[in-house]
Amino acid sequence: MCGIVGYVGEKRATNFLVEGLSKLEYRGYDSAGVAVQEGESLSVRKHKGRLTNLEKELEKNSLEGYVGIGHTRWATHGAPSDTNSHPHLSNNGKIAVVHNGIIENYIELRKFLGEKGYKFLSETDTEVIPNLVDYYYDGNLFDAVVKATERLEGSFAIGVISEEDKDTLIGVRKDSPLIVGLGENENFIASDIPAVLSYTRKVYLLEDEEFVLMNKEGVTLLDKKGNKIDKEIFNVTWDEKAAEKGGFDSFMLKEIHEQPKAIRDTMTSRISMEHGVFFDDFKISKEELESIDRIYIVACGTAYHAGLMGKASIERLAKIPVEVDIASEFRYRNPLVTEKSLVIILSQSGETADTLAALRDCKNVGARVLVVTNVVGSTMSREADHVIYTMAGPEISVASTKAYTTQVLVMHMIAIYFSELRELNSKEELDNIKKEMLMLPEVIEEVLNIKEDVKAIAEEIKDEKDLYFLGRGMDFFLALEGSLKLKEISYIHSEAYAGGELKHGPIALIEEGTKVVSILTQKNLIDKMISNVVEIKSRGAKVFGVTFKDMAKACQVLDKVLFIPETHEILAPIVAAVTMQLLAYYVASLKGFDIDKPRNLAKSVTVE
Ligand code: M6R
Repeated sequence: MCGIVGYVGEKRATNFLVEGLSKLEYRGYDSAGVAVQEGESLSVRKHKGRLTNLEKELEKNSLEGYVGIGHTRWATHGAPSDTNSHPHLSNNGKIAVVHNGIIENYIELRKFLGEKGYKFLSETDTEVIPNLVDYYYDGNLFDAVVKATERLEGSFAIGVISEEDKDTLIGVRKDSPLIVGLGENENFIASDIPAVLSYTRKVYLLEDEEFVLMNKEGVTLLDKKGNKIDKEIFNVTWDEKAAEKGGFDSFMLKEIHEQPKAIRDTMTSRISMEHGVFFDDFKISKEELESIDRIYIVACGTAYHAGLMGKASIERLAKIPVEVDIASEFRYRNPLVTEKSLVIILSQSGETADTLAALRDCKNVGARVLVVTNVVGSTMSREADHVIYTMAGPEISVASTKAYTTQVLVMHMIAIYFSELRELNSKEELDNIKKEMLMLPEVIEEVLNIKEDVKAIAEEIKDEKDLYFLGRGMDFFLALEGSLKLKEISYIHSEAYAGGELKHGPIALIEEGTKVVSILTQKNLIDKMISNVVEIKSRGAKVFGVTFKDMAKACQVLDKVLFIPETHEILAPIVAAVTMQLLAYYVASLKGFDIDKPRNLAKSVTVE
């Protein structure tokens, strides 16, 4: 959940290091730091807080060297402080390390190194690494890094530089992402591609336990025995501008507005009225599908909420039983996954630690694994049997928006694909859903025009301490997502409930003036939902709703209504999701919060 960068070349290293870190701040922003080889020794600048603190320090106190490493931190071990910030140095100051991940056996390693006379200045797990490298160093930095990493348990992507080998940078990964950028007389390492994009489009995507040894002349990839690895260069094709704000005040608002395009791109060449739904990298025969006894959908956070939508549509259209699990729970509940299971892994980043571990567990028992991810070349996309990419483009904001709606869309497309194979539904019914799907970009454009109505509701809820989201069926799954979105960026406590559950406890929380957001897009459940709204209104709640224009009876009971255009009920929550995203955005914006960098969070959760 941290971002690391490294540079060797002919230019001042801090130019790239700072720019690269700015592209990785989404991974954590508790502190930032750099270490640069200056003349005969290593110099370090590091500061708690945002990257701007480090930039100010570098303006006053610049670093001139051509080899360096940098880090932006999401604190795990030890509070955000200057001392706990990376890079960390070995006791003798000769080796500097940046690290993303968690060293699970750091206490044993501290004890081991302590007995050898090493001292620790920070509370971090990372500080053992430079000292271990130093302990094993006997004239060959690569060998020392290999020996040190062999002692590490947990996850890591690290960058190492040393006074003893001034022109060299070494990187290695295990369960945390690391890429290598290949430039002209300069080379880079980074946790993610956007960090290097304004310098090069040629990258290597490192696999676990692959080492990179680089200087300005070249890059060598090695295994831990020192054997050279041949790897294909990955040419990045996406536009650098896609990872910039483009006139919006935040990435979140920009990404909300990109949803019509993201949805269109995700459907392009995958849906045809004539030939049905098809995916380039996921083809399954009718017989293979019939032999699957159960589908497991595994994900975290927002992606988990998209998985719940997938369960609803796959069970409804393809009649295959589906279980949906939070990845961190799934791993430890001994799920009954077998070689007859199909596991669908949902992850925007394709790197989330728990989800990745679940993927690996499922592959180990021989299940067929399909990954739905947004990041081309991500670890999950490389390890799965099949990949379907959500074509949402880079999602930078911590609060996921376009990745969510495209994930839900892909889940529905998978449901249609399976249904067409099994010939369970009439062509007319499936055609109707596909037709409405193809119209989603225009429908979402319309929702983007009701911002003033959303803002009016945001004004009413911005000072609340608690809020409730209600829905039934797929609307309940959207209520979960609406609630998550609001709490992560506005810090207002909220809960989501299935409308029918209220009477079983939560209704006790409703009192005069309690604010509730209810979602009413599932026509077969609308009367039931209206009853639930009436029940809470009669106990004093003020209820805002999202529904269709022709839902006169719903409008009569709601205090304020956000209208969405008519669409198929399976697709309506995708459309209504945009109102939930805008609501969270406006509340956070009215409260003056940093929308793209909410407190305590990071975009990519690469620790368990
Ligand atoms: O990259 P992933 O989709 O695997 O990430 C999963 C969650 O961490 C993510 O959806 C998180 O809940 C978002 N911050 C929600 O907006």
